[in-house]
Amino acid sequence: MNAKLPGGVDRRRQPESLLAGLDLLALGVVVLDADGNVVFINQAAEQLFDLSSRALVGQSFARLFANGGVIDALVEEACNNAFGQKRQELVLERTARGPLSLNSTAVVLESPLGALLLEFREIDLRLRHEREDRFLDSAQANREIVRNLAHEIKNPLGGIRGAAQLLESELDAPWLHEYTQVIIKEADRLQALVDRLLEPHRHARTVADVNVHEVCERVRSVVAAEYPHALVIERDYDASLPALRGDKEQLIQVVLNLVRNAAQALHGQGRILLRTRIARQVTIAKKRHKLALDLHVIDNGPGIPDGIRDRIFFPLISGREGGSGLGLSLAQSFVHQHGGIIECESRPGRTDFRILLPFQ
Ligand SMILES: Nc1ncnc2c1ncn2[C@@H]1O[C@H](COP(=O)(O)OP(=O)(O)O)[C@@H](O)[C@H]1O
Ligand SMILES: [Mg+2]
Repeated sequence: MNAKLPGGVDRRRQPESLLAGLDLLALGVVVLDADGNVVFINQAAEQLFDLSSRALVGQSFARLFANGGVIDALVEEACNNAFGQKRQELVLERTARGPLSLNSTAVVLESPLGALLLEFREIDLRLRHEREDRFLDSAQANREIVRNLAHEIKNPLGGIRGAAQLLESELDAPWLHEYTQVIIKEADRLQALVDRLLEPHRHARTVADVNVHEVCERVRSVVAAEYPHALVIERDYDASLPALRGDKEQLIQVVLNLVRNAAQALHGQGRILLRTRIARQVTIAKKRHKLALDLHVIDNGPGIPDGIRDRIFFPLISGREGGSGLGLSLAQSFVHQHGGIIECESRPGRTDFRILLPFQ
């Protein structure tokens, strides 16, 4: 075909033909303009997202996903030259289908072709499951270490406290009581910490049918009462959810810990969204479930501090003045006991905690 069109326009310089070679790649490629609209999508990406190029070109790419905010953010950062190239793992939630786990690379294009080029490769499911299993194993091992350690501390504590009390009663000089009181108070403080570390293992679970929205509503009213002024807690519930088999008090504790963390990160000022959906055909810890609850707690706060992002579910990790670092670890224990998983995606302006719990 003649590359020159009438009027001297070089056809090879037309965006479509310049990008057409990308159809040969196995890698999904999407080019967006500065408004986040699709300029080009290659065949591998059409297959990945199960949509045709014709339906997509000119449309907002972010709108295809329930969590399209991550795409909007990339476009905005690209337009502000916040990065040249950015690699990350993304989970994009297609509205009609399940979530898609992807390795992505975003490349800023300084070209009339578009503002941003996105490459996508689906994360191998097997790899993802192996990683999840490793994560569950290490969470389990961590919990056992903490539990054993807590017991080892708890046993001698009673003795130390008792001995200090005896000693106090034998001491004639009252000013010496100051020292025994230090021992007693510190022993009590340690006792309280150890009790909280042992909390997930203390109570027998009571399993019954639980209405998830009752759980959410209870938490909402508790936290709304704690932050009555400038905190907005929005709800986006899927009314068709079936009942969940589980321990209602534990589930309240899980959601409460998440919502309270969000409220604290917001300093009581901002928005929290509680969203429930049904997820279909999910695999959690190698088991496939037809239906699962997909619960999100999303806030528009500052995001998880960088230094602790990878460790927030570990016990005693806190980014907060006066925090115990036990809230998320407890939430994770309870979610695992229900056969589910909890994960988090966070950046400044949007933190999204997601819980997947199988409906038995
Ligand atoms: N929604 C959130 N936004 C920002 N940071 C958060 C959020 N949720 C948790 N974090 C961070 O994770 C840390 C651990 O949370 P958690 O285990 O509940 O312990 P604590 O609340 O006692 O610090 C918090 O201190 C905070 O730094
Ligand atoms: Mg907390």
